[in-house]
Amino acid sequence: MLMSNTTPNTIYLKDYTVPEFLISHTTLHFDLDANNTIVRSTLNVRRNPACQKDHPDLVLMGEDLSLLSIQIDGTPLTAEQYTLTDESLTIHQPRNEFVIEISNSIIPSSNTALSGLFESNAMLCTQCEAEGFRRITWFLDRPDVMSIYSVTIEANKDKYPILLSNGNRSEQRDLDNNKHAASWHDPFPKPSYLFALVAGDLACLSDTFTTCSGREIALEIYVEEHDLDKTQHAMQSLKNAMRWDEEAFGREYDLELYMIVAVSHFNMGAMENKGLNVFNTKFVLASETTATDDDYKSIEAVIGHEYFHNWSGNRVTCRDWFQLSLKEGFTVFRDQQFTAYQTSDAVKRIKDVNMLRTHQFAEDAGPLAHPIRPDQYAEINNFYTLTVYEKGAEVVRMLHTLLGEQNFRKGCDLYFDRHDGQAVTTEDFIKALEDANGVTFNQFKHWYNQAGTPIVSATTQYDSKASTYSITLKQHCPATPNQATKEPFHIPVSIGLIGENGDAITLSNDKTTTVLELLEPEQTFMFNDINSEPTPSVLRGFSAPVRLKLKLSTEQQVQLFTHDSDTFNRWEAGQNCFTEVIFNTVKAIQNKQNPPTLPPTLIEAFRLVLQAPLNDLTYQTLLLNLPSKAYLIEQMPTLDIDALYQAHHFVKHALARSLKDSWFTGYQQHHQADAGISSNDIAQRSFKNLCLSYLMALDEKKLTGLCAQQFNGAKNMTDQVAALSLLSHLDDEQSAPFFDAFYTQWKGEALVIDKWFTLQACTEKASALDSVKKLLKHPDFDMTTPNRVRSVISAFAMANPLHFNAADGSGYEFIADKIIELDRINPQIAARVTNSLSRWRKLDADRQQLVKQQLSRIQSQTALSKDVLEIVTRSLAA
Ligand code: TRP
Ligand code: ZN
Repeated sequence: MLMSNTTPNTIYLKDYTVPEFLISHTTLHFDLDANNTIVRSTLNVRRNPACQKDHPDLVLMGEDLSLLSIQIDGTPLTAEQYTLTDESLTIHQPRNEFVIEISNSIIPSSNTALSGLFESNAMLCTQCEAEGFRRITWFLDRPDVMSIYSVTIEANKDKYPILLSNGNRSEQRDLDNNKHAASWHDPFPKPSYLFALVAGDLACLSDTFTTCSGREIALEIYVEEHDLDKTQHAMQSLKNAMRWDEEAFGREYDLELYMIVAVSHFNMGAMENKGLNVFNTKFVLASETTATDDDYKSIEAVIGHEYFHNWSGNRVTCRDWFQLSLKEGFTVFRDQQFTAYQTSDAVKRIKDVNMLRTHQFAEDAGPLAHPIRPDQYAEINNFYTLTVYEKGAEVVRMLHTLLGEQNFRKGCDLYFDRHDGQAVTTEDFIKALEDANGVTFNQFKHWYNQAGTPIVSATTQYDSKASTYSITLKQHCPATPNQATKEPFHIPVSIGLIGENGDAITLSNDKTTTVLELLEPEQTFMFNDINSEPTPSVLRGFSAPVRLKLKLSTEQQVQLFTHDSDTFNRWEAGQNCFTEVIFNTVKAIQNKQNPPTLPPTLIEAFRLVLQAPLNDLTYQTLLLNLPSKAYLIEQMPTLDIDALYQAHHFVKHALARSLKDSWFTGYQQHHQADAGISSNDIAQRSFKNLCLSYLMALDEKKLTGLCAQQFNGAKNMTDQVAALSLLSHLDDEQSAPFFDAFYTQWKGEALVIDKWFTLQACTEKASALDSVKKLLKHPDFDMTTPNRVRSVISAFAMANPLHFNAADGSGYEFIADKIIELDRINPQIAARVTNSLSRWRKLDADRQQLVKQQLSRIQSQTALSKDVLEIVTRSLAA
């Protein structure tokens, strides 16, 4: 019997079996042509000694391929010797060891799914993770089959002067008919998902990196000619990442060459193919005038992420796709540490936690909730989620917290050493950390197989006679699909105590912070020699991905906001105060009462932060930033979108008014029109653009003029976009000239035009949906370019909750139409957009009905992809 939330062809972790055959060598020959590429593949196959089956068939996976010929050990197969289906090529009971040669054709130019070999502008490139290699040729397309690849690419010399694949270059030669060929060899056995090929007329930025052992590595970044001037930052980021991985993790690069290629059509951010990363242009290209400060940072983070995969993912890879977080969670943790090192620990942590709590917590609270190691899936592409990536990184971070920096490093060293060249599981990772340190993490493993965000409630008690202070922690995790009840988690709760005068109290470990290990459903922890009732600073640094419930008075919150030495909790205290104020305002609006006034102590604390010269100006900016509407939406049990927007605006307006002069002075002090990108320039921009956003909340003509002035005079993209974003909510007559000017200035710069689309799709004005529909008719809009689809359709569905949730259901209906249309072009992208319809449980009854109607309408379409079908089915179930 099918369970209602199970999509057909569900695959289960418990069904894992080792492969029947292994492929030691894979020799590929490509005769490239956008409309008809011929692939010849020679596989050295042998029985897997670890598999016990008698005379198994060899079942190769393949999809959208045309078979031209097939032979084994030089003899063509007869029709009885194999069976061909839409998904596989089965060789009946082959010998124990043999060579199979297959020739097939594929059509890259009609591959709009962007998985396998596809065309992007004038170049050809591949994307094989997770299961794209089977769209190139028949293969054991599973990560535990690792093979050594030798690749020859043959193509027209004018159209494709550059021919790239994994590993080291071995030969390049001219052929007849204006063709040429290049050969590549990758000495490291790898799973097929790490295979890559790129061909095109590309420009290259070259550099070198000398590793810690003195080897010189050639670094090459390939882009379209007109983008060559935007590759400097990517190259610097790569060199920073290579150095950092040597110093922080002792990891040295292994090949002679490291290549990055930027492509305009890409389903995700980037891909860690061995020695030949393929990147979305968004995460490579940057110049001061076209990229924002945030773009610069995300480029460095993504370049780091893909580079770090060379060890966490490539040298040690995943046994099966249920283990995805083994490489992704770990690698995200590594890229977070890298960014923190390059910029600021405080700022990086706050940004990551903000993202996690806004988006991953929402995933964990909805029908798509799954553990970081799922135990079933229909379409693996649907599991490249915030849970697997971001929560996965939090789980690694907790291990780091529990072991401490040095012991964690010892464990990682053992993991890399013990499993180099293997395809392993999350248990192998934990085991290495345990064995290196003589500890056990049995209870901790629940983080891998239980979904949902635990709620930790804290209560405190001070005994003045005994001078003791105790804190009682309770944990509970709400039910998630297929998991009604949960075992208690092992939760590290980092804590400090703050004395009356605001000083940190020294604890029995002689430090001011200690890590409590919560193992039971309820546990009490005692602190001695506490001479007056302290203010607790709990879950410092956000030491576990949980919801903390701790009731503090406004005075205590303000004390933390002004004094906590833990930069995360200091920020958090301010956020909590304002969350409370905004939600009280929501209640007042709902009850048609006057909104409450802001507590004067809070305004005062804010003024102090605003006027104080801190040495980390970016951190100061974060302290002054109100909780985002998206974060507040996640916190609201039942969404009242109109009241929330009103309340948020009301509180922002109140703060803007109370501190108007300081916002204005702050703006003037830090505004500079030029384009510098030193960390100080960046910090100043973030601070003054926050000041500007408060000033714009006042809705005064003069201040709108100030914003317009910044837009017109901007010499860098950060300032230009910050101003345009604030102007985008004004009525059309006021905002249109700015959008027109921006378009005229930047047409032809695809990544900048993406921003132009996004800002319009995210407008708060009533006409938002109409403008979105108009944007889809714009000549620059294109359903086959994921970045463009994301800039309009995903932006509206995920970043414009006000109009997406319009009471008449028009937002939902529009998005459902687009999902159906997109699914025929690119199922992965269509499925991502479908996620936006899964959050219906927090809506009111009328809206719930409207969303469910649209989900059902999508579900009833014929020929729906597995990708969208799975999201829709799971969203409607449970
Ligand atoms: N493994 C890639 C990463 O670094 C992401 C990835 C998975 C991907 N599947 C993809 C990228 C499909 C592009 C297309 O996180
Ligand atoms: Zn990754």
